Amino acid sequence: MSVALITGASTGIGNALAKELARRGWAVGLVARRGELLSTLAAEIEAAGGKAAWAVADVTDAGAIRDAAQHIAARLGPIDLMVANAGTGLPTRTTAVPIDAWIQILRLNVDGAIYSVGAVLPEMVARKSGHLAVVSSVAGYRGLPMSAAYSASKAAVTTFFESLRVDLRRHGIAVTAIHPGFITTPLTAKNKFPMPFLISAERAAVLIADGLERRRSDITFPWQMRIVMRWVRYLPNALYDAILSRTRVL
Ligand SMILES: NC(=O)c1ccc[n+]([C@@H]2O[C@H](COP(=O)([O-])OP(=O)(O)OC[C@H]3O[C@@H](n4cnc5c(N)ncnc54)[C@H](OP(=O)(O)O)[C@@H]3O)[C@@H](O)[C@H]2O)c1
Repeated sequence: MSVALITGASTGIGNALAKELARRGWAVGLVARRGELLSTLAAEIEAAGGKAAWAVADVTDAGAIRDAAQHIAARLGPIDLMVANAGTGLPTRTTAVPIDAWIQILRLNVDGAIYSVGAVLPEMVARKSGHLAVVSSVAGYRGLPMSAAYSASKAAVTTFFESLRVDLRRHGIAVTAIHPGFITTPLTAKNKFPMPFLISAERAAVLIADGLERRRSDITFPWQMRIVMRWVRYLPNALYDAILSRTRVL
């Protein structure tokens, strides 16, 4: 039985992905800060015939996520797949210069993903096998309005994981960057603006699991958002600024 460790498994995409991978026969290691939610999820997975273990950790604490990975490996076996999914984002008003919010988003989304890699990669290198994945976002393709830290954090992890992919190829370790569009989760429940091509966390989990099982380097969905964002990526700055500066998300 292959073992997957998923950070941010207590709610949203991580929670749905844990259930989907368990349904497909993976043993799943669940990590987040809210233990009661992880315990409920683990019980649900086991009741459905799956295998799960959980550990509380704040991914911005290198020691805590390392201990959590060790705890899960001791219960389920060596970790074959690590999905760095824990993350956050909220619209930020640039004119308010919200330094603390910017730094907090970058610390969780970037440092958290890097510490999660640090918790599992030495063992994968030693075994010459494994798979690292990060839940980035299409928001990382360009700097979106009122999303300076969020877009920057997602661009950072996409690029970070791409370098890892090149470096780890010869070591038998696959690397995947996942770029969802809008997904219905507690994170987006706060959004007061229209979210085009919104899909459920359960549908997102199926698409992510399909891509991970094929060890694809990039998983971008839904397809409508993939097409739009590829086009937006190459818009000239003057046109991009003229269109996007009219967007209000706060
Ligand atoms: N929803 C979307 O439309 C969308 C689109 C693109 C990308 N994403 C990305 O998908 C990922 C999951 O987001 P979501 O939408 O599923 O949101 P969510 O429901 O709010 O889930 C976030 C998860 O991260 C965990 N988490 C937050 N801070 C943490 C910390 N310091 N240490 C450990 N775990 C922490 C939360 O659990 P605890 O609070 O229990 O720790 C929760 O399980 C994020 O990286 C997000 O940027 C989401």
